Amino acid sequence: MTEMNDRRTFIGYHRNTRMKILKLILVAGARPNFMKIAPLIKAIRSYNQDRRHRPKIDFMLVHTGQHYDNNMSDIFFQELGIPEPDINLGVGSGSQAEQTARIMLAFEPVCLREKPDWVVVVGDVNSTLACSLVAAKLGIKTSHIEAGLRSYDRTMPEEINRLVTDALADLLFTPSADANLNLKKEGLPARKIKLVGNIMIDALISRLPEAEKSTLPSQLGLKPGEFVYVTLHRPSNVDDPKILHSIMNKLGKISKKITIVFPLHPRTRKMLAPLEFRAQDYPQLMLIEPIGYTDSLWLAKYARLVLTDSGGLQEETTYFGTPCLTLRRNTERPVTIKIGTNQLTSLKSLEADVNRILKGKTKRGNVPKYWDGRTAERIIKYLVASSIKADSSAAGR
Ligand code: UD1
Repeated sequence: MTEMNDRRTFIGYHRNTRMKILKLILVAGARPNFMKIAPLIKAIRSYNQDRRHRPKIDFMLVHTGQHYDNNMSDIFFQELGIPEPDINLGVGSGSQAEQTARIMLAFEPVCLREKPDWVVVVGDVNSTLACSLVAAKLGIKTSHIEAGLRSYDRTMPEEINRLVTDALADLLFTPSADANLNLKKEGLPARKIKLVGNIMIDALISRLPEAEKSTLPSQLGLKPGEFVYVTLHRPSNVDDPKILHSIMNKLGKISKKITIVFPLHPRTRKMLAPLEFRAQDYPQLMLIEPIGYTDSLWLAKYARLVLTDSGGLQEETTYFGTPCLTLRRNTERPVTIKIGTNQLTSLKSLEADVNRILKGKTKRGNVPKYWDGRTAERIIKYLVASSIKADSSAAGR
């Protein structure tokens, strides 16, 4: 993917009818954003294809470049059919402040030049926060997809990103009812909050037929129900060498009972390198490179259990009904515990929790309301309705 790949600018008016076009800048920056942007683009295209739909929508895709490796970014674009970004800000890695500031500096001129009607951000990564801040300060309306989630743990950068983004957004699209309550408690007006469901489940449903054809299980010799799928990358689990070492030793021990597949996030790989952990002593502990979305779906669906600190996997396992242990003190996705198959675990209780599940004592779950594959469609409906309303009140002034 090229940097600063400026392909075009917004036209603003429909070529034939001269009718105003709704201009959206869609922002994606890091791995967990891509499966949320893909369904949105698909829904915009199908909205535009319906001749009755007015106004038409033009979108510009901005990739901040927060994630840049092929297996952290490009592979998701290919698998999910996301078009090449119109603009890649190419910001790369850095401290929290560096990365956020670099995204802001690079995104501001784009907004000034393109004058979009809306900036649409997803999730809770630094790109989400940085682009919302820029848009809000320029008086451009922003909408946040996956709004209202709260862990109430401000030691996590994502919680700060969520709080600030939601405080600034003009439309807050929530994945579950608990998110609506959080936003109301923070004093956000009900008219801004729309319960639309989980957009990631749109991506999951559309990629499931491909996931069923994944060749990863045959490459790794995996059989449904006979392995544990592990993903860990949060600073709280991997940045402290003592904690990471202890996690790895526990995984080594568990791998003597059941095969573990653990694709290593670049942060985790970097932190693991200097540790004296001998992976070769544990032949059933498979430490592999990061994998694509479709292979990950297969693993999440067919694992005996998933051990993770990722938000997305907590939700995907709830959808699949796969037992999930989340190695964190809290979660911003409590619906996956209350309704789904997720449970929190700790370093202390990890082995006992895993053993319990391996013995068949699993929690049954359900799928939350509106996790049905139609979330993006609902979002487009609300965005259009809100824009028409804003236009007619401006005309009436
Ligand atoms: C970020 C998000 C986190 C999300 C995660 C998913 C924030 C604050 N955090 O965390 O919410 O769960 O993405 O992956 O936005 N690196 C590479 N190649 C890449 C990207 C990163 O090697 O393509 C390495 C770099 O050494 C970098 C480190 O990974 O310093 C961490 O990347 P960064 O984007 O800062 O945070 P993540 O841990 O990925």
